[in-house]
Amino acid sequence: MSLFQSSTRIIPSAPAVPRHIAIIMDGNGRWAKQRFLPRVAGHQRGVEALRETVKACRDLGVEYLTVFAFSSENWRRPSDEVSFLMQLFMKVLEREVANLHENNIRLRIIGDRSRFDEKLNRYIEEAERLTAGNGGLTFTIAANYGGRWDIMQALQVMLKDKQGQCVNFSEAELEPYLSMNYAPEPDLFIRTGGEQRISNFLLWQMAYTELYFTGILWPAFDREALQAAIHSYQARERRFGRTSEQLQKGHPDA
Ligand code: IPE
Ligand code: IPE
Ligand code: MG
Repeated sequence: MSLFQSSTRIIPSAPAVPRHIAIIMDGNGRWAKQRFLPRVAGHQRGVEALRETVKACRDLGVEYLTVFAFSSENWRRPSDEVSFLMQLFMKVLEREVANLHENNIRLRIIGDRSRFDEKLNRYIEEAERLTAGNGGLTFTIAANYGGRWDIMQALQVMLKDKQGQCVNFSEAELEPYLSMNYAPEPDLFIRTGGEQRISNFLLWQMAYTELYFTGILWPAFDREALQAAIHSYQARERRFGRTSEQLQKGHPDA
């Protein structure tokens, strides 16, 4: 059975610590600007915040952490910023993968890899292969990812597999083709930087995700900020379409 359990069909359990946290790491540029530094200095510091977040998630027993590192729309940025981000991605893979591996963390990359150069693709494949057997936290980096791209690529591959003979198909038939078919849907979504939008992140997968927005700029995000997001999550009532009464103890639907 696929791990991907759609919240529109199956009511997932709501554990105290979210099983899957998805983050839009936003605000690097503004963090740098506040300090009269170039934008790229913010991206660099953002890597530190990410390292802390991975550790904190592992310590808390989060099973899946998925972060948005580069969107399919981010190519619209100035070309020197884009190439800096690509270089940084490569350096991070080079520097951090052994450490992730030692910590039993499985690394996965989702997104359209066709625009990455050969070297970067090789690093990605090696990192995924090296950590494939790790059973601790599954850490996913979304790079050149877009939620619409994901749904479209899933449809295209599915139709090809079914040789175009598939007119009526269900959500369940499409889901194995989505990029995150190995993970349950995110329980908690965090966006730093103050913007309150999804920016084409995990559109399909976030149908019932709890959304949390904070003004903290990504380079300043730390363990305490993560705890605050988790506390907010823990105070929520996840109904998945049911009524509040149905969730009360003793109710037949509880
Ligand atoms: C997020 O920070 C990182 C990426 C999109 C790569 P930004 O670079 O978007 O920072 P702001 O939003 O301009 O502050
Ligand atoms: C979203 O951040 C993508 C990433 C964090 C990688 P942006 O800063 O690019 O988002 P918008 O365009 O302002 O919504
Ligand atoms: Mg931004």
